[in-house]
Amino acid sequence: MKTSAACCFGGIILCIGLSLRAAGSSQIQLVGSADPVVALAGDNVILPCYLEPNVSAVDKMVEWTRSDLKPQRVHLYREGRDSDGEQLPSYRGRTSLFKEELKNSNVSLKLTGVTLSDAGDYKCFIPTLKETTIPLIVGVVSQPVISINGTKDWGVVLKCDSGGWYPQPELEWLDSHGNVLSATEPTETSNSTETEMNPEGRYTVRRYVTVRNTDNNRFTCRVVQPQINQTRETQIHVPDDMFPSVWWIVGIIIPAVAAIVAVVVLFYFRRKRRHKLKKEGSFLS
Ligand SMILES: *[C@@H]1O[C@H](CO)[C@@H](O)[C@H](O)[C@H]1NC(C)=O
Ligand SMILES: *[C@@H]1O[C@H](CO)[C@@H](O)[C@H](O)[C@H]1NC(C)=O
Ligand SMILES: *[C@@H]1O[C@H](CO)[C@@H](O)[C@H](O)[C@H]1NC(C)=O
Ligand SMILES: *[C@@H]1O[C@H](CO)[C@@H](O)[C@H](O)[C@H]1NC(C)=O
Ligand SMILES: *[C@@H]1O[C@H](CO)[C@@H](O)[C@H](O)[C@H]1NC(C)=O
Repeated sequence: MKTSAACCFGGIILCIGLSLRAAGSSQIQLVGSADPVVALAGDNVILPCYLEPNVSAVDKMVEWTRSDLKPQRVHLYREGRDSDGEQLPSYRGRTSLFKEELKNSNVSLKLTGVTLSDAGDYKCFIPTLKETTIPLIVGVVSQPVISINGTKDWGVVLKCDSGGWYPQPELEWLDSHGNVLSATEPTETSNSTETEMNPEGRYTVRRYVTVRNTDNNRFTCRVVQPQINQTRETQIHVPDDMFPSVWWIVGIIIPAVAAIVAVVVLFYFRRKRRHKLKKEGSFLS
């Protein structure tokens, strides 16, 4: 009887203790980032995570995981230091917490040398607290390359190539006033966008445009990736003499017309002279 009463009493204390603890924990939250963190391949990135309200995390266990990989541990901090047990091999030596920030509730993860395969959902977790998920988007960009691909009709065919992008970007050609050279102006464009995925899952975009001679012959190839908010552009100045120009017409037509006129005139005078000679001949005979 005595023992069970003590047990019951102990149980009640334990219950109260647990509920107090639970109540205390439920007030502390882990806050991450609702918006994805965006990085470019090669960057160092900080995945944000902190305790709210502001309490020290120095004595806590902090675990960062990838929910889509197995084993899934990215980083583990416990008993006041980092532990590399069961860490995903691809993250070895690339992760750290800001030790001096732990006392300020900041348990953000620093990840160095980001690669495409780092893209995914990261979970920030401290025992008894609700984990929070921080998505990481990784992009790759490259500078477009323009080349002159010959002439067509009265224009010059320009080619723009940009390889190694991720995610798939958009490519557009612009004139020097910022107008998009689109297929709605058939005199200036030919739409043959080719998009191909290379073995690493990156995208190469290529587009040809046929341009006419303009006031300054400057054209821009712009490659845009809105998800990673990146734009790369390259400009080209096409030399005037690249265009199959009006001077060509002048150079051919005018001499041709002049020659025809000359022939006609010559013919006319010869006929006139022959006529005159004939007349003179008939007069003499
Ligand atoms: C916590 O408080 C410290 C000291 O006031 C402050 O420097 C730090 O930025 C705070 N942490 C967060 C995550 O707001
Ligand atoms: C956490 O610490 C890092 C490194 O000092 C800092 O960049 C980041 O802004 C901090 N986060 C918060 C929420 O204070
Ligand atoms: C580009 O040039 C190559 C070789 O000169 C040719 O085969 C190809 O048809 C050209 N493309 C366009 C769109 O003019
Ligand atoms: C270019 O062609 C692709 C398919 O061939 C089409 O989906 C796209 O709308 C075209 N772009 C323009 C600007 O006409
Ligand atoms: C996109 O990038 C530009 C320039 O790099 C910057 O000014 C702008 O704030 C960025 N926008 C977003 C939504 O990140």
